[in-house]
Amino acid sequence: MRIYREKDYNAVSRRAAAVIAAQVVAKPDCVLGLATGSTPIGAYKQLVEWHKQGDLSFAEVRSVNLDEYFGLAPTHDQSYRYFMQTNLFDHVDIVPENTNVPSGLAQDAAAECARYEQVVADLGYADLQLLGMGRNGHIGFNEPCAEFPVATHLVDLTQSTIDANARFFASADDVPRQALTMGIGTIMRARSILVVVSGADKAEAVRKTVNGPVTPEVPASILQLHPNVTLIGDEAALSGLK
Ligand code: F6R
Repeated sequence: MRIYREKDYNAVSRRAAAVIAAQVVAKPDCVLGLATGSTPIGAYKQLVEWHKQGDLSFAEVRSVNLDEYFGLAPTHDQSYRYFMQTNLFDHVDIVPENTNVPSGLAQDAAAECARYEQVVADLGYADLQLLGMGRNGHIGFNEPCAEFPVATHLVDLTQSTIDANARFFASADDVPRQALTMGIGTIMRARSILVVVSGADKAEAVRKTVNGPVTPEVPASILQLHPNVTLIGDEAALSGLK
């Protein structure tokens, strides 16, 4: 695992954007695995800026997002589809049909999970998968559990994730209780992985991910077994590392 220690969130965002841009330049028709949450927002802003300056095109890029709340319409302002439209897709030249996010309104969750896993497989899995990390070490919505979930699946969100995400909703009661997420196997099939972390509240999860044992109790710890992982964090998030 390559680790970059940056002085603050802006520096994390700039380096993360540079890694993503390098992937797009090296392989214009690459498959980008994308994440939502607050951490990647700065990187997406930087990518939009480079696109607007004429330095970066997403015209041939295909994308697969990690996850989506189950029950939220794509037009809901807290859905992950809406997040991707407003933070990235609407501001660059990516072809809408080339963007993939699990459908939060699917009637049959199991069928939607199987469909989505097949979409990712048919694209040959991600060339570069961007990940944030939950305070409990979750990646995508793969929460701490007894066994690593392999494929795209429906999850019950833990109370800690519901509480962490409540800041985006009118109240904690409005946070969906379930989500559709790529599995750990789906994520690990990406050819390269970029993890972005910022803030002291991630320090313990980062420490366990990098220095702890590989365990489904800390889902991100599986990344120790991936041959091509880059972790970019600010001083606060990396403060627990040896
Ligand atoms: C988002 C996702 C989540 C977040 C994680 C960190 O698509 O899958 O795993 O990456 O919850 O979120 P932030 O960046 O808001 O701290």
